[in-house]
Amino acid sequence: MSFSSSSSSSCSTSLLLILLLILAIFSGAAFSQDCSDDFWKLVKNKDNSTSCKSLRTLETEFGWNVRNGTNKSTFSVDVTFGASLLMEPPGWIAWGVNPGPRPEMIGTQAIIGIIPNNDNSGMEVRTYDITKETRMGCHLEPTENLNGVVQVSNTSIEYDHGSGLYAISARLVLSSTLYNVTRLNHVWQIGAALDPSNNPLKHPTTLRNVDSTETIDLTSGQSYGQNRALLRKVHGVLNIVGWGTLLPIGVIVARYFKVYPFRFNKWWMYLHIACQSTGYLIGVSGWAIGLWLGHASKYYIFQNHRTFAIFIFTFTTIQMLALRLRPNEKDEYRKYWNMYHHFLGYGLLVIIIMNIFKGIRILQAGQGWKWAYVGILAFLGAITLGLEIFTWAKFLYDKEKQKRDDRMRDKNTTDQPAGGKP
Ligand code: HEM
Ligand code: HEM
Ligand SMILES: *[C@@H]1O[C@H](CO)[C@@H](O)[C@H](O)[C@H]1NC(C)=O
Ligand SMILES: *[C@@H]1O[C@H](CO)[C@@H](O)[C@H](O)[C@H]1NC(C)=O
Ligand SMILES: *[C@@H]1O[C@H](CO)[C@@H](O)[C@H](O)[C@H]1NC(C)=O
Ligand SMILES: *[C@@H]1O[C@H](CO)[C@@H](O)[C@H](O)[C@H]1NC(C)=O
Ligand SMILES: *[C@@H]1O[C@H](CO)[C@@H](O)[C@H](O)[C@H]1NC(C)=O
Repeated sequence: MSFSSSSSSSCSTSLLLILLLILAIFSGAAFSQDCSDDFWKLVKNKDNSTSCKSLRTLETEFGWNVRNGTNKSTFSVDVTFGASLLMEPPGWIAWGVNPGPRPEMIGTQAIIGIIPNNDNSGMEVRTYDITKETRMGCHLEPTENLNGVVQVSNTSIEYDHGSGLYAISARLVLSSTLYNVTRLNHVWQIGAALDPSNNPLKHPTTLRNVDSTETIDLTSGQSYGQNRALLRKVHGVLNIVGWGTLLPIGVIVARYFKVYPFRFNKWWMYLHIACQSTGYLIGVSGWAIGLWLGHASKYYIFQNHRTFAIFIFTFTTIQMLALRLRPNEKDEYRKYWNMYHHFLGYGLLVIIIMNIFKGIRILQAGQGWKWAYVGILAFLGAITLGLEIFTWAKFLYDKEKQKRDDRMRDKNTTDQPAGGKP
């Protein structure tokens, strides 16, 4: 039977696609703790840094060497921070420590490498106190007085032609009442704009820019961050499978297997409800994880993605309730109800697909995600197209057959005495 073979093969193929998607996603999950050879060379030239590691965002690297201060109330750390600019200069690269309870931008005491020109002239390192006002867009001015930083010395910046890395370094003496060697809050950032006096202007606020914080134990190199990478991927997969794959399959089932071209009484209904309910449940769990993620990172927000998400949840919930609340088959409102249910259903699909691509863009986890979902959509689209063409072919064939039958019947009626109609 063409119905069961096409639906079971569509199911197994979409399962295969989902598996491929998951594989593509988790193969990129591991990252290395050490730094690149190029950066290690830079660090060794500069100071006696003994440790180095790649930081988790913006492809940045961090080298350091921590020593006891002259007395118990301070400790000293030589740092080197390496990064490539996002674009051509001008730009800035920043690293800083935060004496507050959390590693975050506000409160950070930063050393910033200023890169005004392409030809590496005029590069310098300045120190800044990053405040609430900075975040609100206030003008940044360099300052000598950093909170809890007793001394900044031996600052330098250099460019490595081979690797394209800029590296800033400095020796900091930190107050041990405000900073903890084994739990140091540090942040880093890259910006692409300078004001006329070469002070940094706002950096982009994509996920990797706002993720550029962690707490580090300088004695061991271990870091403690809220690493939400896995949960974000789970969020993405659940939403793609639930809203983005199962709901559209349910719509295809309802469209082509209810009356025309295939009529599978009851069957289509079970399949439609099964697809929509599991799709809804999986989607809602993905949505809930999204809400949790949004709540956990309350210092920044992805407003459009969030607004669409709330819209999707609200209206899919209404569509699900519709299953219980729809008017009776014989009711005259049923026609209007059907129109509205279908209209909202197609509209929701468009918004869901848009929001999935928006989410994929926010995640910035490579092209794999995009192509995986494009693959799923192309597959569903091909099935829809095939069924649509089949519908029309069948429609035309049936009409032709009808005409032929009518002609036959006409011939028969003229041959037979009148009143012989069944
Ligand atoms: C130059 C002026 C700056 C402006 C106007 C600015 C603005 C902002 C804004 C608006 C956000 C929140 C993003 C969102 O809600 O989507 C943010 C986040 C962040 N910024 Fe900046 N920023 C500036 C400089 C810096 C510097 C110099 C650093 C690093 C030393 C930095 C590090 C961070 C980090 C780590 C975050 C994410 C974590 C958090 O929100 O606390 N920013 N910034
Ligand atoms: C239609 C499906 C989707 C819905 C309903 C949805 C829902 C949500 C919600 C409610 C949030 C919290 C927003 C906030 O408060 O800031 C969120 C955040 C997010 N979503 Fe989605 N999402 C969907 C698809 C996706 C996809 C496919 C991806 C990636 C592949 C994705 C990636 C993200 C990321 C990276 C965040 C930010 C997490 C964070 O702040 O740490 N989303 N999503
Ligand atoms: C590096 O260490 C050597 C000996 O271990 C010392 O002589 C030198 O002064 C140190 N350099 C810096 C910049 O600390
Ligand atoms: C720093 O001082 C502590 C004692 O306060 C000592 O145990 C530790 O070995 C010292 N570290 C270095 C690198 O000298
Ligand atoms: C510790 O050393 C710093 C400078 O390195 C100095 O300012 C401070 O007064 C010293 N504190 C004590 C208690 O000696
Ligand atoms: C660090 O700076 C001091 C002056 O603040 C200078 O005497 C010393 O030579 C510098 N050390 C290095 C390794 O550049
Ligand atoms: C530094 O952090 C460690 C680990 O959380 C803690 O045990 C220690 O008491 C802290 N030290 C200071 C001076 O706050």
